[in-house]
Amino acid sequence: MKKNITVILGDGIGPEVTEQSIKILNAVGEQFGHEFTYDYQLMGAIAIDKTGNPLPDATIESALKSDAVLFGAIGDPKYDNDPTAKVRPEQGLLKLRKSLQLFANIRPVITYPALNHLSPLKPEKMDGVDFVIFRELTGGIYFGEKKINEEKTEASDLCSYTQPEIERIAHLAFQYAGRPERRKKLTLVDKANVLETSRLWRKVVQDIAPSYPDIKVDYMFVDNASMQIIVNPKQFDVVLTENMFGDIISDEASVLSGSLGLLPSSSVGTGTTLFEPIHGSYPQAAGKDIANPIGSILSAAMMLEHFNMNEEAALVRKAVAWTLSQGFVSQDIDSVNNYGTSVIGDLIKDFIEQKIPADINKKSVELGKSTII
Ligand code: IPM
Ligand code: MN
Repeated sequence: MKKNITVILGDGIGPEVTEQSIKILNAVGEQFGHEFTYDYQLMGAIAIDKTGNPLPDATIESALKSDAVLFGAIGDPKYDNDPTAKVRPEQGLLKLRKSLQLFANIRPVITYPALNHLSPLKPEKMDGVDFVIFRELTGGIYFGEKKINEEKTEASDLCSYTQPEIERIAHLAFQYAGRPERRKKLTLVDKANVLETSRLWRKVVQDIAPSYPDIKVDYMFVDNASMQIIVNPKQFDVVLTENMFGDIISDEASVLSGSLGLLPSSSVGTGTTLFEPIHGSYPQAAGKDIANPIGSILSAAMMLEHFNMNEEAALVRKAVAWTLSQGFVSQDIDSVNNYGTSVIGDLIKDFIEQKIPADINKKSVELGKSTII
């Protein structure tokens, strides 16, 4: 198969983690006879520096006509610490989400037994944790009218949702909960005891629920949900929620896996689908070859599944699980014994190419030597 991928490296650690994914995609292409071509485009602080615009038109055009978008990360401290900045890197990502109508952000959360010791939770609470967050991505407080008075002493962000906006993601989440591998449970996370938008979400989901009779639906306030994710994460299967709540609880949920650096996501819309790790640009680590590439590599695996390359994706997942189980992990996971971003990428690539010798010599990996010799 031939696939054309728009690659947006973005800011901070975006380029170095995405580079590992490209390595993996190329290895998969070689092994399975696919041809992946890449169209590199700008977005974020780097795009502002080079063009003055956080999302140049060329990036949107490329994304619209490609088979998928692979994105790294966005954000730069020079904008974070300047609340008066009119042009901000994040505007690029928000505009891209709107332009591609990426209304559903899908964030799977699983745990790896080899990393259970990293979790703040007891191991018995971790085994079998497997849920997927469906976060609405093009509405709510992120996109509502923003105001600040002339004196700059009062500001507001409007949170608004329409019934069709809720329906389209709710249908996706119900369908996903009905997949053979899922446990047929959907939890709507909202704040319906306080917010009008949340009451609308609840009504729309209640109205849709009878069309999915085999899915058990429950409703949870977001404050309780953020506690339940820690207290009893196994109870969740598919979690459906609005934009801002989804942003917050998905970072929280990543702690269950062991690190924010491990979590991938896909953003589904009416056209091209986008794949990105859920972590940010981690500017302190940029260029140091210490960032965790797994969130990006698993996003590439989700991309392969999107292309219906399921065997290929399964091999990537197996390779990732192998590195984690062998202790070939980055600094965020093990602060003492850790490996560089590119070494982890190379190991995963070598695994895919079946080049890992049975008696792999950790010493030579540590020295940054090829694993084959
Ligand atoms: C995410 C990020 C973005 C968001 C930022 C960078 C705008 O945190 O993808 O979760 O808030 O959606
Ligand atoms: Mn976020």
